[in-house]
Amino acid sequence: MRQAKIQPYARHLFVCTGPRCAPGTSEQLFDSLGEKLKAHGLTSGALRVKRTRSHCFAVCKEGPIVVVYPEGVWYCTVTPEVMDRIIVEHLKGGVPVQEYIFHRAEVAGQTNNLE
Ligand code: FES
Repeated sequence: MRQAKIQPYARHLFVCTGPRCAPGTSEQLFDSLGEKLKAHGLTSGALRVKRTRSHCFAVCKEGPIVVVYPEGVWYCTVTPEVMDRIIVEHLKGGVPVQEYIFHRAEVAGQTNNLE
C-alpha cells in the first residue's frame, strides 16, 4: 500500500469557494484561515486543523458555507467574525457555534452528540 505523508490532524475544515454561494467573499475567508489558525496554535499539535477548498456542497446559497469534520457540522453565512467564533469556540473549545449551524451530517460509526 502506498502511504501519503500527511501530519495528523484533529479536524478537517472545508470552505466552499464555488461560484454561487458567496463569490469572492468565501475565497477571502479561506485565504485568511492560514494566519488565523496559526495565530491560535491550530496548525500543529493535538488540535491541528486541516483546511481545504471545496468547489460546491450543492447548497449554493447563504454562503460562505463552512463544514467541519469529524463532527459533520455545517455552518452558513460565515463572516470573518463568525469564523473567529468557530475557531475559538468549536475548533479550540469543542463547542460548535449553534446559531450558524444549518445542517448536521450523519457520520457513519460516530455519535453526533453535539446538541
Ligand atoms: S457554490 Fe457553494 S455550495 Fe454550491
